[in-house]
Amino acid sequence: MCGIVGYASSTQTVCGKPLEVCLQGLGRLEYRGYDSAGVALVAPGMKSVAWRKKSGRLSNLVQDIEAQPMPDATAGIGHTRWATNGEPNDVNAHPHISQDGNIGLIHNGIIENAAQLKFDLQAEGYTFASSTDTEVVAKLLGKIANEIVESTGSPDLFKAVRRTARMLTGAFTILAVDVRQPGIVVGARHDSPLVVGLGEGENFLGSDVAAFVAYTKEAMELGQDEAVCISGSQVEVTDFDGNQVTDSKRFTVTWDASAAQKGGWDSYMDKEIHEEPTAVADTLLGRFDANGDLNLDEVRIAPETFRQIDKIIIVACGTASYAGLVAKYAIEHWVRIPVEVELAHEFRYRDPILTPRTLIVAISQSGETMDTLMALRHAREQGSQVLAICNTQGSTIPRESDAVLYTHAGPEIAVASTKAFVAQIVASYLLGLYLAQVKGTMFRDEIHQHVDSLKAMPQKIQQVLDTQTETVARAAKSLVNAKSFLFLGRHVGYPVAMEGALKLKEIAYTFTEGFAAGELKHGPIALVEPGEPIVVIVPSSRGRDLLHNKVISAIEEVKARGAFVIAVAEEGDPDAERYADVVFWRPACPTLMSPLVDVVPLQLFALDMAKDKGLDVDKPRNLAKSVTVE
Ligand code: M6R
Repeated sequence: MCGIVGYASSTQTVCGKPLEVCLQGLGRLEYRGYDSAGVALVAPGMKSVAWRKKSGRLSNLVQDIEAQPMPDATAGIGHTRWATNGEPNDVNAHPHISQDGNIGLIHNGIIENAAQLKFDLQAEGYTFASSTDTEVVAKLLGKIANEIVESTGSPDLFKAVRRTARMLTGAFTILAVDVRQPGIVVGARHDSPLVVGLGEGENFLGSDVAAFVAYTKEAMELGQDEAVCISGSQVEVTDFDGNQVTDSKRFTVTWDASAAQKGGWDSYMDKEIHEEPTAVADTLLGRFDANGDLNLDEVRIAPETFRQIDKIIIVACGTASYAGLVAKYAIEHWVRIPVEVELAHEFRYRDPILTPRTLIVAISQSGETMDTLMALRHAREQGSQVLAICNTQGSTIPRESDAVLYTHAGPEIAVASTKAFVAQIVASYLLGLYLAQVKGTMFRDEIHQHVDSLKAMPQKIQQVLDTQTETVARAAKSLVNAKSFLFLGRHVGYPVAMEGALKLKEIAYTFTEGFAAGELKHGPIALVEPGEPIVVIVPSSRGRDLLHNKVISAIEEVKARGAFVIAVAEEGDPDAERYADVVFWRPACPTLMSPLVDVVPLQLFALDMAKDKGLDVDKPRNLAKSVTVE
């Protein structure tokens, strides 16, 4: 939530680049929040911070700056907001400015003790224009910075930010500029993301690497409770007490800025769905040795430790949790150990039974979901090992886990998660097959067979994209006015049904419910009235015939009550052909692989429905890509 960017260059060159970097970065971070946007700039000789902010999309801010240009600068900070505290309007937008105008500050997170701090500041005569916690921090920082000037005779923004950070409770990333030190940007983080971009004669800060990847691919992680001061020539990291941190991990971003652009597609979501064959293929790359056996040395957990694992708990939210549910079917079947899947925000509050032999798998595209982060921290405190399945280098979840298996889906910008879902399933399957390999619960040739099936999936996903797009678009058009949808599935089709329902509700704002087909007669069938659209994931009859027949019976039952049925079924399935009104065909594949193809038409369906309704598919209302508050 909230996108943050910071830039510092030499004080010798006062120019338009700080503003350019901030606006560019905000453009790439807009998926994190789009209620309002703002920038603050400093340069030698300025009397006070130059700032501008506007409610609504970033384009509003850009237009405003075009109409009334901002001054050249040496350093700057930019913010795109997802409102947590105070409604989204011009006044509540960031930056917030210190009482004397010297300091500009932006913030991501929630300051829990803001009310008390505000009360104390008001008692000292400070006044507030907005209803945000951020303005409280800006005023507090301004006061502390001035106290430092009074006691030492010179400004020290780095020290002032650290002192301020020590007084805050809650989750925060803050970035600040001070007109008295126009060559630096200072940041601090606690339970909220911030990464450093390392340039030549310039340095960057960002909520994630997308903020600066157009300028540098060299990056550095910041740890929990660390503060950073960047100038054109230096990056200094300390803890909040001022102790130097010298072991910050550096990494090179593995994707280009072009990967985070629409590349000719109408929307990021469109592009990202069409990248699914590559996301699956890339996630498989480099995970096998010369004999074709799985080699997951990169995860940093010894095979002996894996051998001891007797239970897995997958923690995740939203789409990532549905990928986890799919994985449960495969891993239990292959490894014969129990796999629980738990919504991360429920996990730590139910006092879960954890032992050193329990493996927690935290699945997250962004690596910043606060609920998932809190769940993994709880698990580690109880002595369990945590393995992260994550798509974002340098993010907090992999950094705080014992091990990480990266998905290689490339940057996912659209708020609705699509390519990450298939990549998460593949990574979880690799983990399952690896566990089967080290525990010896499957024969080697069986494991190789599953690996071959996985390797065949990119081509099958491509086939769905090549052959089903028009049918899906027609179905979406014909149902654009439907008030609600039900999604049904059994076995691995059940999480796929829930994922299909989530996609449609989040971007097309249609009321949807996904549930297990077996539940139909236990309640949901009461919702079925003539014309009600029901999407049914039909398992292959080549898998368990029984499962197939039961799902077909469910279709017959809802058809008998007048439902309009869309089936996702295997090519040539005569029953689907006979009973469904529309069929999205899947190429034949093993049952456990079917989610990788079945989800594709459902994603396209949601996309088309949202487009037909004239909605912004990439930035659905009220949502942010990365949910960094609990
Ligand atoms: O970044 P994460 O994978 O941890 O995000 C988890 C969910 O917030 C995310 O999947 C969300 O449900 C998406 N909007 C779904 O499209």
